[in-house]
Amino acid sequence: MEKEITCVAPPNIALIKYWGKKDENLIIPLNNSFSITLDSSDLFTKTTVRFCDPKKNEEDKFTLNEKPQKLASHKRIVNLIAKIREKSSLPNKDDPIEIDSMNSFPTAAGLASSSSGIAALTYCLGNLFEVYGTEPLQLDQVEIGKSTKKQEGKNEENKQVADLLRREKLSAISRQGSGSSCRSMFGGFVEWIAGEKNDGSDSRAKQIFPKSVWPELRVLVCVVRSEQKKVSSTLGMRRSVETSEYIDKFSTKVVPKNIKQIKQAIQSQDFETFANVTMKNSNAFHSVCLDTFPPIFYLNQDSKKVIDFVHSWNDIFGTQVGYTFDAGPNPVLIMLNKNLPSFLDAFVQTFQIENLVNQPLQQILKDSQFNKLVQ
Ligand code: ADP
Ligand code: DP6
Ligand code: CO
Repeated sequence: MEKEITCVAPPNIALIKYWGKKDENLIIPLNNSFSITLDSSDLFTKTTVRFCDPKKNEEDKFTLNEKPQKLASHKRIVNLIAKIREKSSLPNKDDPIEIDSMNSFPTAAGLASSSSGIAALTYCLGNLFEVYGTEPLQLDQVEIGKSTKKQEGKNEENKQVADLLRREKLSAISRQGSGSSCRSMFGGFVEWIAGEKNDGSDSRAKQIFPKSVWPELRVLVCVVRSEQKKVSSTLGMRRSVETSEYIDKFSTKVVPKNIKQIKQAIQSQDFETFANVTMKNSNAFHSVCLDTFPPIFYLNQDSKKVIDFVHSWNDIFGTQVGYTFDAGPNPVLIMLNKNLPSFLDAFVQTFQIENLVNQPLQQILKDSQFNKLVQ
């Protein structure tokens, strides 16, 4: 049996967004970004990579959601494999590999499938090819993106430190498959540091706070539309960099200020500031999209209704809920545990009454499947 590694990775949702690259090839971002890793058993990518018998297979193979893919049309994945192979000193590193991956949630729909997908792949490849160390290689299945528990004993501690450093280094490779994926190497609140070096070696993710820093925080992922978006994140941000004037203010002024604010808000568990900064940054990002020419519309009518609903709710009850939208129409809502039941109740009722045009949201609400997506 040839060697095989399986990894399960979570998506992350940016609270302060990455949008635009300084270097397209190396994927070095214009600005730092800050995210929360989603730790839900309903949202994940599961990837297996294995070496194949070199006599039977001539090429690397990739299957995504049970569909065999043409690897040549996934240039970034081809590059990623090449980068890992380059760093490997295994004697059989040139043997063909087979990648089998599935997402438990819609792919390319603005729910950050590229973040969990590429993070899982990079971690698997790093282990398969024994890049940056061999320690976790005894494991045939690992879960990344989980907040790490403190282990007892010097030896265990050392292993853990080595593992964190290894993930940080792997995040710099993962980044080159899809920028947002580097943040999925860690659980909790994570920052992708843009870095200063031209080769991108210091453009990496770091965990800023573990999830346990704010146990009352809940995240709700709402699927209003599971179709593939028309403009991928990669193409969208390229067009924004080329045509938007506002993107400069966004990346040099708005984002640095928001990252400072959100870190402080988390540290002091100031939900009002946390929610307001998150909502404002999401709106600022979608303003960049609107300022792009031709404009990109990721939000749809359903998204806008959810935004209005959240603000009306907050007007009455104080700031209890925040929203953020990635490059797609699906709302991600944040709130404190204690406010979840009453909000969810009203939310479900409102959107059933309003009879949204979009079927998936209705179905999810009707079947009360929402709970499944609550982290
Ligand atoms: P999303 O909003 O879902 O992140 P993107 O446009 O950023 O959408 O990225 C979608 C792309 O990410 C897919 O077309 C594919 O190339 C890549 N991707 C998604 N899931 C996986 C996976 N499980 N393994 C490898 N690549 C993946
Ligand atoms: C809006 O990481 O998907 O979700 O680096 O080109 O693969 P590429 O793009 P991707 O962009 C994510 C954009 C975003 C914001 C974010 O996740 O920070
Ligand atoms: Co993406």
